[in-house]
Amino acid sequence: MSANDDTRGYLITFEGSEGAGKSTQVERIAKRFEAHNQAVVVTREPGGTPIGEEIRRLLMHSACGSAMTPETELLLFAASRAQLVREVIRPAVDEGKIVLCDRFLDSTTVYQGVGRRIASEPVAMINKFAVGDLMPDITVIIDLPAEIGLERTRHRAREMPDRMEQENIEFYRKVREGYLMLAKALPGRFIIADGSKSIDEVEVQIWEELRKRVI
Ligand code: TMP
Repeated sequence: MSANDDTRGYLITFEGSEGAGKSTQVERIAKRFEAHNQAVVVTREPGGTPIGEEIRRLLMHSACGSAMTPETELLLFAASRAQLVREVIRPAVDEGKIVLCDRFLDSTTVYQGVGRRIASEPVAMINKFAVGDLMPDITVIIDLPAEIGLERTRHRAREMPDRMEQENIEFYRKVREGYLMLAKALPGRFIIADGSKSIDEVEVQIWEELRKRVI
């Protein structure tokens, strides 16, 4: 591995709005790296630790979730991340592993900042507090028109949409724009994949970009 230094691994995060196919691609890319004898850790946000999974339940499935304020939501996502960074991601990256994380701090910038309209200063400050000095090395955005993403989500075989899936189309349009704005501001960190293509095509596009940068 041509790592950032001799021993450090990589944090690669996957972002996109609902229905983009992040989780599928995370699994497939993990297999690709493993096939090249790379040690891979797959995790997700919110969640990824016992504490984080409890916070996930509260954020997405709690019976009292409809009363949650945007500020509380922001702090809960950050709390899950603070735990995940220290318990899982930081140690794995320090051991030279490749960590693939399904969502990370860009989700907060976009969903709570752009989507919920919380001011950018507190969002940036709380994100920074949660991650310390650990930033993603590479972020893959799976980009998809909001209409298609929502359509896919609603067709998933599940009983009830979670709390975050109950927003209107305008919210998801803002989310998509938010991601594209981030990628424009920091082109070095981001890879944009076309999520409207087939699963196989998206996988190939992401893998070609990642293998150039990582292996
Ligand atoms: P997912 O795991 O199915 O992608 O669902 C996570 C949901 O939580 C999704 O709607 C995005 C949202 N989310 C935020 O709003 N802010 C965050 O910081 C994170 C990590 C997720």
